[in-house]
Amino acid sequence: MLSNGIIQAAYVIAALLFIFSLRGLSNQETAKSGNIYGMIGMAIALIAAVASIKGGLHWIVIAMIIGATIGLYLAKKVEMTQMPELVALLHSFVGMAAVLVGLNSFLDPHIQNFHGGELTVHLVEIFVGVFIGAVTFSGSVVAFGKLNGRISSKPLSIPNKHYWNLAAIVVSIILMFTFVEVKNGAGATISLLIMAIIAFVFGFHLVASIGGADMPVVISMLNSYSGWAAAAAGFMLGNDLLIVTGALVGSSGAILSYIMCKAMNRSFISVIAGGFGSDGSSTSSSDEEQGEYREMQPAEVAQTLKEARSVIIVPGYGMAVAQAQGAVSNITEKLRAMDIEVRFGIHPVAGRLPGHMNVLLAEAKVPYDIVLEMDEINDDFPETDVVWVIGANDTVNPAAEEDPNSPIAGMPVLEVWKAKTVVISKRSMNTGYAGVQNPLFFKENSYMLFGDAKDSVEKVLQNL
Ligand code: TAP
Repeated sequence: MLSNGIIQAAYVIAALLFIFSLRGLSNQETAKSGNIYGMIGMAIALIAAVASIKGGLHWIVIAMIIGATIGLYLAKKVEMTQMPELVALLHSFVGMAAVLVGLNSFLDPHIQNFHGGELTVHLVEIFVGVFIGAVTFSGSVVAFGKLNGRISSKPLSIPNKHYWNLAAIVVSIILMFTFVEVKNGAGATISLLIMAIIAFVFGFHLVASIGGADMPVVISMLNSYSGWAAAAAGFMLGNDLLIVTGALVGSSGAILSYIMCKAMNRSFISVIAGGFGSDGSSTSSSDEEQGEYREMQPAEVAQTLKEARSVIIVPGYGMAVAQAQGAVSNITEKLRAMDIEVRFGIHPVAGRLPGHMNVLLAEAKVPYDIVLEMDEINDDFPETDVVWVIGANDTVNPAAEEDPNSPIAGMPVLEVWKAKTVVISKRSMNTGYAGVQNPLFFKENSYMLFGDAKDSVEKVLQNL
């Protein structure tokens, strides 16, 4: 057992390491060291937390071994493209932990040590902690289901849904007053449990009514909620490190949600209110806007690239699925060696998680300075000879700008169609994540290169 002073000092060091970690993670070049800071911080936090436990240590060690084994197995098994689902599932654990900590704090006999104002504050902490935890839990489970396709990404639209949400919040507030007023006994327990059930349903409804295209915002929003749930658990347990860590996660998740909303030109409130995006049953006019499309074979694409002076590669989810980043890196090197300018255009929500494309391209050793964000490159398309879209769809869909009825209307997109020639690598004419047809494929300067992205890129490389 370590002294309380040493434990508190360890907590401060861990909190500082978490801040360094976030700082490091904000940039690709420092992301690796950011991860290492986070790992060291978490190790210190775990050791200090375990060392502060009085009795029952063997249970904690058993739980940690089981948890670590499952964690290691999942980390090795999970594909990069399944990462958002895993993250959603992990958020649900944080939510459930906050609910259990809340119930436990309420049932703990030590609650009798609290009196007067202190007791009221503690009860409010418990109530709010259970509420946030339950919303985070069921919301994250629905997000998990939507991301892996077990639940339809179509927004659930029950009549008067905003009123139901409002009613859930109002009833929960009334229950909180009853809970704090009654303080203990069956009345308080019943208030807490009824609120927990309402919060579970509320969380379910909140995420179920958000459409597929808004999932990036939902993921970061739940990330933020899980942080606040952890902070609430920290208050209930009187653990300063948990409060600090929860607040860091909560606020960084909130900032990320803001960035995602800005990237998709959506207001946070309208996302929460739901109804954006669909699972392909859209009535948007772009669905009818089909027409003739042209195809190119790998040899023709190679020829087109050879004749170009400037090329922009726009990767998307399909590049991640096909694991084509290595081949893309090789072809980039080859084209640059032929004195062709090659750059990458990255949409903020390309792929399935924030920074997805950047991570893959960094892994494949594509130089950072040619990987540009949407805002940095969007004006350059008209002067570009060839744009090669590799497994991207929604993020290059002109309907976002041209069709006010499209479910993705208003979302800023990479204006690839303004280039002289656009080559699109995908396997079929299927839609992307938002389930909307893409008029880009039918434009006069567009050519489809059908096939798995990795195969296609490798074939073009052979032809170069
Ligand atoms: P999507 O619009 O999802 O389109 C990806 C395309 O890749 C599909 O149309 C698919 O067409 C093609 N594809 C799939 N597997 C392939 C393979 N093996 N080889 C070649 N092509 C393949 O992708 P995007 O443009 O990157 O847009 C991302 C979407 O996901 C947005 O709607 C965004 O809102 C959403 N989303 C993003 C995030 C974050 S945070 N980034 C999180 C959740 C959701 P085929 O089937 O015809 O091959």
